[in-house]
This record gives sequence, structure tokens and C-alpha cells, in this order.
Amino acid sequence: MPLSDADRARLAERRRRLAEMMGDGGVLLLAAAPERLRSGDVHFPFRQDSDFAHLTGFDEPEAVAVIAPADARPYALFVRPRDAERARWEGPRSGVEGAMADYGAAIAHPIDELETHLPAWLGRAERVWLPLMRDDPLPRRLWDIVRRAHAGRARSGYGPTAFHDSGDLVHELRLRKDPWEIERIREAIAITATAHREAMSTVRPGETEWQIEARIDFAFRRAGAVGPAYPSIVASGPHACVLHHTPRDRTLAADDLVLIDAGAERDGYCADITRTFPSGRRFTPAQRDLYEAVLAAQLAAIAVVRPGATLEEVHAKAIRVLTEALVHLGLLAGNLDELVASEAYSRFYMHRTSHWLGRDVHDVGAYKLGDTPRALEAGMVFTVEPGCYIAPEEDSVPAAFRGLGVRIEDDVLVTPSGCEVLSAAIPKHVEEIEGLRAAAAPSSRGA
Ligand code: GLY
Ligand code: MN
Ligand code: MN
Repeated sequence: MPLSDADRARLAERRRRLAEMMGDGGVLLLAAAPERLRSGDVHFPFRQDSDFAHLTGFDEPEAVAVIAPADARPYALFVRPRDAERARWEGPRSGVEGAMADYGAAIAHPIDELETHLPAWLGRAERVWLPLMRDDPLPRRLWDIVRRAHAGRARSGYGPTAFHDSGDLVHELRLRKDPWEIERIREAIAITATAHREAMSTVRPGETEWQIEARIDFAFRRAGAVGPAYPSIVASGPHACVLHHTPRDRTLAADDLVLIDAGAERDGYCADITRTFPSGRRFTPAQRDLYEAVLAAQLAAIAVVRPGATLEEVHAKAIRVLTEALVHLGLLAGNLDELVASEAYSRFYMHRTSHWLGRDVHDVGAYKLGDTPRALEAGMVFTVEPGCYIAPEEDSVPAAFRGLGVRIEDDVLVTPSGCEVLSAAIPKHVEEIEGLRAAAAPSSRGA
């Protein structure tokens, strides 16, 4: 779909900010995502490379963007030409005409002419940024052209001498979300919230995990999402102890915990949210104890978030509060400081508490700058998702805790004065959850 005037202006502003970061004398090259075969001649659904989408808004494969602030043609696109025959099979392409008219390129060429025309941008460039970490044919083709431009320097006297990964610049840009992006994330989260609430108020023992997954998928797509941002995790009973549980083949029993980690993707932005609730009306006492322990860790970790804090501090707080609760419950024994220092909790909590969130579920951006954890800034978005997973065979703990897995995951925006929990509309306190469960599940234990 051609970009609107507002889209074009927003993308131009992003490229202007990128140009400021590059300085004169630099050229940045970006490659569209490759189409990937699923089997035979059938492709996976196409999803544009997130860096490419962020700076071009162009949603076709086999495309290259050139951003060269000091050049007379500071923004160029190489794209697939229009093709009436292919259009009968795949739909229309923008072509070089559309790349200029609808996507703001100062000039566009057919992608087949990359080797012919791209050297004109590289000849006087000192520094080149390109997708060094991508290992598919189009970035390799770019790297070949750049190498030749470098080799030509010996005779011409001009050509690039410094090569950087384009992600070094683009990921810094993507890490700080502007108000338009935050709105897109809010939309993905609003869709996700409806799906989670529906699940929490309808799931019943006797259903299979895949039936629940299908309803979540439906709720996402019915509301305009392209689908899940990552394979939804619907893990019941002991399956909740497998972090990336995928078979989804278990039938829910009475008195299970159900862990649902699912987030919608819409307009290129993701949600990533987990809730855990009982398959019946009420948590069992052990389920409730473990749930309250994780919730206390999550609330304490969120309370740390403000500009200047770090994700290390968020994680440290989650670990400390969880460890304290596990001692209280008798699942760990010893001195709190020593248990934290020896990472005794890692038997039950083995992942990090946070990751950046945006166009990618595990979004880009450095967590550390050298030895220093990055200070949070307003506009950064990330998850806070402590969990506790007690393997069924964990015989060091009372039997009632074995096979229980709990994760509570929210999406958090750093604001100038602290933070906003963007996914706050999805219940996570025990009384709220049991309120929703009362409508859904038959009374299994006379509760
Ligand atoms: N859904 C993947 C994660 O929570 O990181
Ligand atoms: Mn996550
Ligand atoms: Mn998740």
C-alpha cells in the first residue's frame, strides 16, 4: 500500500535523525528481508526486515535502500520492477515509479542494476554502514560491491575505508520509541489484552492447549493483528515448566495452572504478555503461594523502573524478592544475601527479567555499553517477566509445589517520571483472576 503523506514525513524525519548520527561522508545500506521457502516452492509469509521497515516503510522483498546524507540523491531505493505477468500471481509491485512517487526516494533503480549504480554512491564515501550480521544473498551482494569500491581506492584515490554494521546506528534509533511508535505498541497490547482476558474468563478443564491457542489466534486476527508476534505458548500443568513449550497437546485437568505467553503483532509492532491462572475457579494453596511470590517479585521490579535506572537493577530486584519469598515458602534455605550471590534461585528461575520490545519481540538495542549497564530513558519499552518453574521431578520441595510453573509478564514504558505498565488492563492480582475464573470454570473443589 502506498505511504500516506504523514507516513512519508515520519520516515523522512527518521532518516534525517539517522543522517545526523552518521555525519557527512557516510553511506548507509539496508537490505529488505529475503523470502524464505517453507517447503517445495511454498514460502513462509513475508515479513519485512525490521531495520529496513523502520527507515523505508517499503514492504517488498528484493529491495535495497541507500541513505547518503551528503549525496545529491540522499535517499535511493533499488526495487523489483513492475511486471504484469508476475502481478497475475503475486499482486502488483511498486516498481521504480512507485518507489519515487509513493516512498519518497530521490531516485530508484531496478534491483538487477545494483552492481551498475550503487558504486556511484560509494566512490566518495569514507564510511559505509551495511547489514554485516545478515548472511543471506542480498547483504552478501552489498558487501561484494562495497569490497570492490574499497579495492578501487588504490587507483582512484577515493573509496570507503571503514565498515560498520548498520545495526550499530539503526538499533540506537529503534531503542527510543517516538509517540507514534508507542501508539502502535499500545494498539498491539490492547488487542492482546482482549485475547488474554477472554482466555482467562473462558478456559475450562477438558480443553486442549491447542484449542486455547486457536482462540487466542482468532482474537488477535479478528481485531486486525497480522497474528501472533511469536508462537503463542499455552502451557498447562507441568508443561508450564518448559520455558518455550510448543507441543500444545495436553488436555487441561482440574486444578492445573495454565500459563499463556502470547502477544499480537500489528503495524509492525509487538506485544509480549504472560498470564498464569488456575484451570479451575481458585488457585490451590501451593499455586497461590508460588503465584504471590512471583507477583511480589514482578511488582517490586516494576517499581524500580524510572529514567536513570538499569535493567540490571530491575533484574536484581526481581531476584532478591523472589529468593526471599522462596525462603519464606521453604523452597530455599539459607541466608538471603548468600542465596542471591550463589544464584540458588536459578534452579527455579533461569531466565532474565527483561528484554527490549518494539518491532521485534526481543527488540534491538545494546543492554550494556562496555562494562556499564545502559541507563533507562523515557521512551524505552521492555518486558518485566519474572517466573518460577518447579520441575515435576524436583524432590527437594514439598510435593504440592512440584510441576508448577508461573510467569507474569508485562510491557513497560519508561516515562519522564517513572514508568507506565502498558499491559495493566490484564488482571494479575489473585482476587481479580479468581473473579474472572468464577464465570468460566465449574466448581471443581466446592470453591
Ligand atoms: N515470549 C517470549 C518472551 O517472553 O521473551
Ligand atoms: Mn518476553
Ligand atoms: Mn513472553
